[in-house]
This record gives sequence, C-alpha cells and structure tokens, in this order.
Amino acid sequence: MFIQIEDLCFNYRNAKENIIQNFNLSIDQGEIISILGESGSGKSTILRLLCGLETPSCGTIRISNNIMTDDHHFVLPEKRGIGIVFQDYALFPHMTVSENIKFGLKGYDRKARKKRIEEVLDLVNMMNFMKRYPHELSGGQQQRIALARALAPKPTLLLLDEPFSNLDADLQIKIRRELKDIIKKTGTTSIFVTHDHEDSHAIADRIITMRDGAAYDWESICTLRREQEHLV
Ligand SMILES: Nc1ncnc2c1ncn2[C@@H]1O[C@H](COP(=O)(O)OP(=O)(O)OP(=O)(O)O)[C@@H](O)[C@H]1O
Ligand SMILES: [Mg+2]
Repeated sequence: MFIQIEDLCFNYRNAKENIIQNFNLSIDQGEIISILGESGSGKSTILRLLCGLETPSCGTIRISNNIMTDDHHFVLPEKRGIGIVFQDYALFPHMTVSENIKFGLKGYDRKARKKRIEEVLDLVNMMNFMKRYPHELSGGQQQRIALARALAPKPTLLLLDEPFSNLDADLQIKIRRELKDIIKKTGTTSIFVTHDHEDSHAIADRIITMRDGAAYDWESICTLRREQEHLV
C-alpha cells in the first residue's frame, strides 16, 4: 500500500473527546480518494495530521513505506513531499501567478524552475496568466493556480480541502471534470475532502465517509443499507 494510516487518534488541546478515533485508511499509488463527511466531522483535521501540521496522540502514518509519524517518529511537514490546496486557495496576494508557483520550487535552479512553472501552467491551461496577481483572476482561475502551485514540486501525495467551496455551481461542475483529468494526467495519489456527494462521485476512485472520527468505506455502507432495507 502506498499510503497507510493505522489506528490514528487525535484531540485538540481544549477538547474533551478525540476528534479522530481509530481512523484507518490505505490508499494505492495513483488513486484518488474522497473523504466525505458533515461539517465538523474531522475531515480537515485528517489532512492536517497527514501533512504534519498536527501530531496524533496515537497511530501510524506511512507514505511509500516510510514512517511519517508514530510513537517514536515525526517527519516535519516540509520533508513529507505533500502538496496542499486549501479551502480558500491561499495564494500569496502580493505575488504574481508565476511567483506563487516559484515559491514551492526551492531545490530547482533558475532554468529548471522556469521550465517547471511553464509545464504546470500549461497543465492547468493558464499559460497566459503568468504575470497576473491573484486579485486579477476569477475564482476558478485562482483554483487552477492553487492546483498548479501544489503540483509544481511533484508531490508524492496531493491533499485538496473542499477546493470548490468558493465557486458558483456551473463553474464547480466544469472544474470538477478538469480537476480529475489533471490529477490523472500526473498520476498523483490524491485525497479530496468534501461534504458534497456529487463532487465525490464525479472525482473519486473510492469514497470514504467520516463518522465519529473514524472512516467507513462508502460501498460497504451502501451494501449495509441495502441489507437493512431488505430485512425491514
Ligand atoms: N484548533 C482547534 N481547536 C479546537 N477544536 C478544533 C480546532 N480545529 C477544529 N476543531 C474542532 O474539531 C472538529 C473537527 O474539525 P474539522 O475542521 O476537522 O472539521 P471538518 O470536517 O473539516 O468541517 P468543515 O466541513 O466544516 O470544514 C470540529 O468539532 C471543530 O470544532
Ligand atoms: Mg474542513
């Protein structure tokens, strides 16, 4: 398994109960997983634990057989090779599109950096917007730049936290399809968090539902429901 999360537990310092309780999830390389759950169910917390912004109280996270965190290890966020697109895109407002993407390309020399910026802008179909500032872009365009910035350093894992929450319904449907094509083109293993069933079904290879801090496989929930309905 490429990503392995085992028995993960976590609570915020001022909270009484565990927000994440024995969370288990395994992901194949290149798979797009969607985590579906109500507001407050702990979806963003799982992403924060994966990228190392929070430390779990128990459990193990492995990426490509390397331990990111367990009782004895903690790999720093910048060493995990994870790309993130946050809920609000979080582009740097004082930097142009090209500078925003350049920011994540620290290990590249000047020529390689320029080439990579062009590659990812081409990927998201935004080549002509290199010199623009974020406020000069539409919501959908900002979303594509945030995706380009996250993909530029060739992350081993891409995390997307409700990337469509600021888009109107028409754009959401268009970008949904684009996003899946772009991610599949790069073959990047991805976790996509949402509370929208349609987003999940349109993008994901597999849907996981969050409930009481744990993960449930969507297919097995549907099977269980069908069985229960049958019994009634
Ligand atoms: N820094 C924090 N300190 C204490 N509690 C927090 C903190 N951040 C989040 N929480 C609580 O943890 C729970 C899970 O929050 P989380 O942000 O993971 O939910 P979510 O599923 O992403 O919700 P949404 O769909 O609204 O984004 C919530 O009950 C929230 O109030
Ligand atoms: Mg959230």
